[in-house]
Amino acid sequence: MGTTQVTQQKNNSMPRHIAIIMDGNGRWAQKRNLPRLFGHKAGAKTVEKVLKLVVKNKIRYLTLYAFSTENWKRPKEEVEGLFDLLKSYLANKSSELKKNDIRLRFAGRIESLPEKLRLFMEKVENDTSHCKTLDLILCINYGGRQEIIDAVKKLLNMNPPNVDESLFRSCLYLPDVPDPDLVIRTSGEVRLSNFLLWQSSYAEFFFTETLWPDFSEKDFNEALESYAKRQRRYGSI
Ligand code: IPE
Ligand code: IPE
Ligand code: MG
Repeated sequence: MGTTQVTQQKNNSMPRHIAIIMDGNGRWAQKRNLPRLFGHKAGAKTVEKVLKLVVKNKIRYLTLYAFSTENWKRPKEEVEGLFDLLKSYLANKSSELKKNDIRLRFAGRIESLPEKLRLFMEKVENDTSHCKTLDLILCINYGGRQEIIDAVKKLLNMNPPNVDESLFRSCLYLPDVPDPDLVIRTSGEVRLSNFLLWQSSYAEFFFTETLWPDFSEKDFNEALESYAKRQRRYGSI
């Protein structure tokens, strides 16, 4: 793993990799006096729309935060509802993803997810492994701190004579995926919530009040326009 892995897109007006903290599903439902799960269902529809926009804009990588290692703290029904939603999303996705040359990948502590869900995940991952136009990465049971700890464990097993940035990076969940250029968070929260801690060191951030189910092409374009105006310096002048 060479240092070329590090994404440095100083003058590029389009992000190569967008990562999204899809937040606000619960509040969207609450505002309508609906159960929270309806918000998650509406959020899944937004994923479809955003996927089309990402393809249209020729973005190479899209990472979506779907379930954090902290989301287990939610009521059992909500956690199960989210996993059911993921299963039904994955169940009939392969052919559509293949048609659009989209490779579906996962990041997180996958081994502790329910077996049935894992089987669906493995199937789509295998079915689309040859696709090259877009890498769609779903973070499920993902935590940035946990990813760093898992990388440290791998390093300890390797017992290397020396540890540098590129060796550490090679121990992350998806070492070939470049760092996100743009991280978007919806719903007005201005925090990372344990998302891509290592990878977002030099990401540009875009926060919007829009709740994830309402996230539209207009919001997406605003994020891209904001990104295009940023001057990325990476510590230089
Ligand atoms: C984000 O929406 C989806 C997940 C975390 C799974 P939330 O469920 O966090 O929605 P709010 O923040 O409660 O509105
Ligand atoms: C972050 O949202 C996790 C996902 C979007 C999957 P949360 O709603 O869980 O984050 P907090 O609890 O507001 O920080
Ligand atoms: Mg939330």
